[in-house]
Amino acid sequence: MKFFIDTANLDEIREAYDLGVLDGVTTNPSLMAKEGIRGEENVRAHYKAICDIVDDNVSAEVIATTYNEIIKEGEALAKIDDKIVVKVPMIKEGVKAIKYFSNQGIRTNCTLVFSAGQAILAAKAGAAYVSPFIGRLDDISTDGLALIEQLVQIYQNYEFETEILAASVRHTMHLVQCAEIGADVATCPLSVITGLLKHPLTDSGLEKFLADHKKSNS
Ligand code: E4P
Repeated sequence: MKFFIDTANLDEIREAYDLGVLDGVTTNPSLMAKEGIRGEENVRAHYKAICDIVDDNVSAEVIATTYNEIIKEGEALAKIDDKIVVKVPMIKEGVKAIKYFSNQGIRTNCTLVFSAGQAILAAKAGAAYVSPFIGRLDDISTDGLALIEQLVQIYQNYEFETEILAASVRHTMHLVQCAEIGADVATCPLSVITGLLKHPLTDSGLEKFLADHKKSNS
């Protein structure tokens, strides 16, 4: 399973990359706003800075919602760096744009996906990634992981090449369960990635090993 970090914070991206397990980055307009990145030029420069840290797969989201504007914005984003994946919302104009980008060889990530039907459309349009938001489904008392399970089955039935990118991952159990189900990618905050490191028996075990080593070497 690929690990993407869901942030526009450069320090967090560097920290995850330095751990050696990072395969990409997802951002969205809210995450960019959180970092105080405003204005077209600053946004592009920020995406470039992210691309300079990681090896590939930097999702850059379009703000446009009409076909022509999505194409214009997406093409401009794709020109920033070969690592850019154009993130397009699951709307009618977005699906049409994903098909266009796919024909042009521009990778897309179809975002704001909350149902199997939407994910089928994204795959048929040729999205490189589809992003079902599991945490936001859980927030409205719907089983987000059940959607991932359904998509794994559907994509397998028809050998769709679109990768299932579990998004809105809120905690380590979400991530582990996505891996069990067979999601291709999970995108999550740094705290979820580093949270995987933690186990109290690791901490107490290490403490004991080091104490015993110190005793026998003093
Ligand atoms: C995915 O690409 C989104 O940026 C993200 O995972 C949304 O997560 P949230 O529901 O925690 O905002």
